[in-house]
Amino acid sequence: MNYTAPRGTRDILPTESAVWQWIENQTIELCQKYGFHEIRTPIFEQTDLFQRAVGEATDIVSKEMYTFSDRGERSLTLRPEGTASIVRAYLQHQLAATEKISRLLYRGPMFRYERPQAGRYRQFYQLGFEILGAASALVDAEIISMGIDLLAKLGITDLTVSINSVGCDVCRPVIREQLRGFLQESLPQLCDDCRYRFEKNPLRILDCKNKTCQNYFSGLPSSTKILCQSCGEHFSSLITYLDLLKVNYAVDDFLVRGLDYYTKTVFEIRSNQLGAQNAICGGGRYDNLVHELGGQPTPAFGFAIGMDRLYMVLEQLNHIPTIKTDIIDFYFMTMGEKERQWACKIMHDLRNNGLSCDINYDIASIKTLFRDAERKKALFAIIIGEDELDKQAISVKNMKTREQYNIHAENMIIELIKLRKEINQVPI
Ligand code: HAM
Repeated sequence: MNYTAPRGTRDILPTESAVWQWIENQTIELCQKYGFHEIRTPIFEQTDLFQRAVGEATDIVSKEMYTFSDRGERSLTLRPEGTASIVRAYLQHQLAATEKISRLLYRGPMFRYERPQAGRYRQFYQLGFEILGAASALVDAEIISMGIDLLAKLGITDLTVSINSVGCDVCRPVIREQLRGFLQESLPQLCDDCRYRFEKNPLRILDCKNKTCQNYFSGLPSSTKILCQSCGEHFSSLITYLDLLKVNYAVDDFLVRGLDYYTKTVFEIRSNQLGAQNAICGGGRYDNLVHELGGQPTPAFGFAIGMDRLYMVLEQLNHIPTIKTDIIDFYFMTMGEKERQWACKIMHDLRNNGLSCDINYDIASIKTLFRDAERKKALFAIIIGEDELDKQAISVKNMKTREQYNIHAENMIIELIKLRKEINQVPI
């Protein structure tokens, strides 16, 4: 029988996984400077949470959710995104009572039943950031700039940053009506999706990728020109802060995002290295969501990075770093059972001192063992044969310089650690 990972999912094998860990560590290090703390939430939630938060008329809710009933007949959904769960946890644990502003970071798999293609999966991974409790446009600008700094830290600078404002409850109806008025006449020429969105969610029409439809969009009224006073001021304040932070952005009237909770600022960061699925980050402000899910009115802003796409860009740029886990410090070559027992104790002590070790579990010629040590990129080979056992002294060989040392059992661990520290040029 042949099993493979389900369509739209994949295995992240050890070499790639080590790079993901490195990305996550770099991210956490930078985010701590902005005061973020990690939160972990379940990967499934009540279906209703996503229906309310993301919006019934969105593609995510209407076509892409993995929804099932559990044995207790509860409708549950594998999370298609993280923001709804974070707001649910924020309310459930009354985080607002302990901190006026919560800065939360999360990571993990998300699930959407989309048509798989390069950079688009049904199980994909996000690193997300949410700030709850702050209304200032400085937050929007700071966090957009943090996203760019993070990508730069990983070596990705060839980016397009798009921003827009989708307004609020006051001006969104006006934006919608202007859009409807503009498209009314061309409606019969638009695709089925656009016609459905015209009724349910006209702003989302702007996201249509159909070339024929796009022909009818030129000359559309720009939403940033129709904003109410409060949204207009927020948008110009955002621009002032982005300029101060020297962020290179473009205002994109067509940027509307695929989730209904956004108010005011929306943004995306795209890589010029990727094809059709080129958005690495997306997010925006969602000032109504906490209230809609049962809390006090609380302004909020956030975004998520798509890890799968981020990795693809690093690969394209040849920026995949060499990670220490590719290398082992000591490779033990043992010639018999007694020798292996001694090696077993030494390895245990070395590992407890933070060093990596490996050993031959089967009998093999010394030539084969050296080949194995080379393949595993061992820094030192430790040879333990009958002679070494008799003299209670191991032979250690530097795999690069081929220098050889004899180290006696007494002070052995200290001597081995010293030896390893002397060759510090290896990537960590
Ligand atoms: P989103 O734009 O749907 O936003 O997803 C964020 C990022 O996740 C995208 O820019 C992309 O890199 C990645 N992504 C999305 N779908 C897929 C897929 N099928 N395969 C691979 N990668 C994908 C959100 O999810 C919002 N919750 C972001 C947010 C946080 N807004 C406010 N706070």
